[in-house]
Amino acid sequence: MQHGLSFFSPPPAPSPPRVAAPATEPLHAVPSTLLIPLAARARGDALFPHLACHDTEAQRQLAALNTRVDSYLADYPTVLNILWRTRRVRAAGEAFFARHPLAWGVNLGCGLSHYFQWLDQGRNTWLDADLPEVMALRRTLAPHSSPRLRQAMLDLRNPQWWQALHLPRRALAQPLFMLCEGVLMYLQPAQVRQVLREFATQAPAGSRLLIDTLSQCAVGQAGLHASVCRTGAQFHWGIRHMRELTDCHPRLRLLQTHSVAECYGWAGLAMEALWRPWFSAPLYGLAELGVE
Ligand SMILES: C[S@@+](CC[C@H](N)C(=O)[O-])C[C@H]1O[C@@H](n2cnc3c(N)ncnc32)[C@H](O)[C@@H]1O
Repeated sequence: MQHGLSFFSPPPAPSPPRVAAPATEPLHAVPSTLLIPLAARARGDALFPHLACHDTEAQRQLAALNTRVDSYLADYPTVLNILWRTRRVRAAGEAFFARHPLAWGVNLGCGLSHYFQWLDQGRNTWLDADLPEVMALRRTLAPHSSPRLRQAMLDLRNPQWWQALHLPRRALAQPLFMLCEGVLMYLQPAQVRQVLREFATQAPAGSRLLIDTLSQCAVGQAGLHASVCRTGAQFHWGIRHMRELTDCHPRLRLLQTHSVAECYGWAGLAMEALWRPWFSAPLYGLAELGVE
């Protein structure tokens, strides 16, 4: 993750790396945060070999961008958190597509991530979707290579964002695997509830949505985050209790949760234990939601 325990690192002077391929405009503040997970996946393996993700697509794209990311790699907790979440998402995707080999995966706010390199099971389909400026950058870096790998432009702030995915009937004839990582914390709380409601309303029964969550105490504190402070983006959404994820629609179920504390050993678990009497949500975690 690009969030979480690194809140407590001292903020260095802002100097955002420029994110743009030669043919595109520099990205705005929130879209430019895509460079943080890209850098971690491309270059973080050497820092945390036990969490290595071997992301050859991220390595290729980072080389093509020709942007310095040393400052992001110096934020060790963030690199670790992103590698941790990548592993968890990948494992959840593999398990899902083993059960549903013809299903579609949808990555909402995909940035430059490329999960299909790991989750292509031969018959499933993957749809990457993000804001138009990101999809334009993505096209210059990663041209389509498979009819089962698709792209869409969407803005999750639009209450009708689901329509922008243009999912065909065959995609909706079975459960969907949906992912939204490193995105929702940049939206307003009412917009996040609308994203969750739209998923609950539109997704076929048995679908999954994986999201990452920040604690409420991080809201407004992006300036203290060692990586995000360089981008000008701000955190607007966080949670105190896990039930906030399902309160907004009766079809929603919380199926699994994970806290990043699990990869910080006893220190992480001790910190989490101190935290729990006040908040049932972790400082940073992953949640798997399902619809009945
Ligand atoms: C920190 S990056 C995460 C990218 C990717 N999910 C990953 O983990 O590599 C945040 C992403 O959220 C996307 N995003 C932010 N607001 C969005 C919105 N309203 N609609 C769609 N995507 C959005 C940004 O464009 C950016 O790509």
